[in-house]
Amino acid sequence: MLILGIETSCDETAVSVVNATGGLKKPQFKILVNVVSSQVKLHAKYGGIVPSLAKREHQKNIVPILFRALKKSGLLIAKPQSLISKQSANSKHQILNTIFTREPELLARVKKHIVPAKAPKIDAIAVTVGPGLEPALWVGVNFAKALSCLWRRPIIPANHLEGHIYSNWLEATRVNSKNLTSTQFRNRKIEFPAICLIVSGGHTELILMKNYGEYKLLGETRDDAVGEAYDKVARLLGLGFPGGPAIDAIASRLPIANCSGPSSSQRIRASRQSAIKLPRPMLYSNNYDFSFAGLKTAVLYLVRDLQNAAGRSKKLPIPEICAEFQAAAIEVLVSKTLRASRECAVKTIMVSGGVAANFALRAEFAKLKAQEADCKVLFPPLELTGDNAAMIAMAGYIRKQFDKNADAGSVLPNANLRIAEQNNVR
Ligand code: KG4
Ligand code: ZN
Repeated sequence: MLILGIETSCDETAVSVVNATGGLKKPQFKILVNVVSSQVKLHAKYGGIVPSLAKREHQKNIVPILFRALKKSGLLIAKPQSLISKQSANSKHQILNTIFTREPELLARVKKHIVPAKAPKIDAIAVTVGPGLEPALWVGVNFAKALSCLWRRPIIPANHLEGHIYSNWLEATRVNSKNLTSTQFRNRKIEFPAICLIVSGGHTELILMKNYGEYKLLGETRDDAVGEAYDKVARLLGLGFPGGPAIDAIASRLPIANCSGPSSSQRIRASRQSAIKLPRPMLYSNNYDFSFAGLKTAVLYLVRDLQNAAGRSKKLPIPEICAEFQAAAIEVLVSKTLRASRECAVKTIMVSGGVAANFALRAEFAKLKAQEADCKVLFPPLELTGDNAAMIAMAGYIRKQFDKNADAGSVLPNANLRIAEQNNVR
């Protein structure tokens, strides 16, 4: 099945084509193309994502990104304008007018560029219906509905968080050929039951996945998501937006005395011994919930105290603060995931979401794999940790196995969609 994936839940406009086969017995994915256009630079000026701006940008970018994806995958077939009858164009325009009542800019672009184009040879269209920012979700959902009507292809509503989970079905391998190194993706066999730790800008969730479509939410953040905490701490340290990659990079540059070839976990250990101390919120709580708002406030007070003690003109020990902040957040994430994996006797731990790109988090889990966990610990390829549409096409393929006839009329965005609402939860 060739699936066109569409993702517009936050600040990335993304389109992908994935060839998916094997059903639930042996799902196999091959990404033909994965185009992601990030709006991050635009939102950086405001220190965070502005939903109305995200909606405007998605409307502007989604058509050119679709064409780029179809061209790259060899699926774009030009159709001369003269072949489309006026009558057929008019009836298509009428359908589009009812779909895009709130996206006039996108309506004009779809009429101009998509109506005259020939339907590509895809089998279905998977689109993120939630969770996410509502105005941003509407753009992707209405665009997918328009394509579904124009091209007569079924639409599959995909859950963004399930998408992050399915990014783990692929792993990156380095391939050397003619002195050139390239990255390729290989399918993994996932053994259930599995613990999924989703760490992103909007979510921090621990989910028990018993099988395809069978989830149990074990715990989640009670306030800020961990990615949000990274972004807020980076902002108060003056490191820009998004904060995760900046904090990750700065903390990894921290020199460690008496360490040859310092690794991320050595840095974490060093930060544990440093004079700067931050709390590990809910580390010993008798549940799988998290809380990161207090950690962010603790950094705020720490900065204030350091400035009061040394004077504002003195430079803050930014690398040490970053390393200790990461160490605190990661200790809680790893410890609770490990506890859940033991209590549920799982075969696999899967980490995913934007924060899964974090070096120190990967290093701590790798150490765990070597020493303590009785199961496999998996991360997605770095290229698939942030928001993308390949993961949406993959999640869409699995959803399609349960729900063969999703109809375009019933596909609606749901900003607060939970994995449990779409699935069989026990
Ligand atoms: O999954 P994602 O792309 O979007 C959401 O669904 O939220 O995650 C974005 C989040 C941002 O908060 C960003 O700061 C964080 O992922 N992030 C990182 C790193 N790269 C991205 N956090 C820590 N370390 C990183 N290397
Ligand atoms: Zn995401």
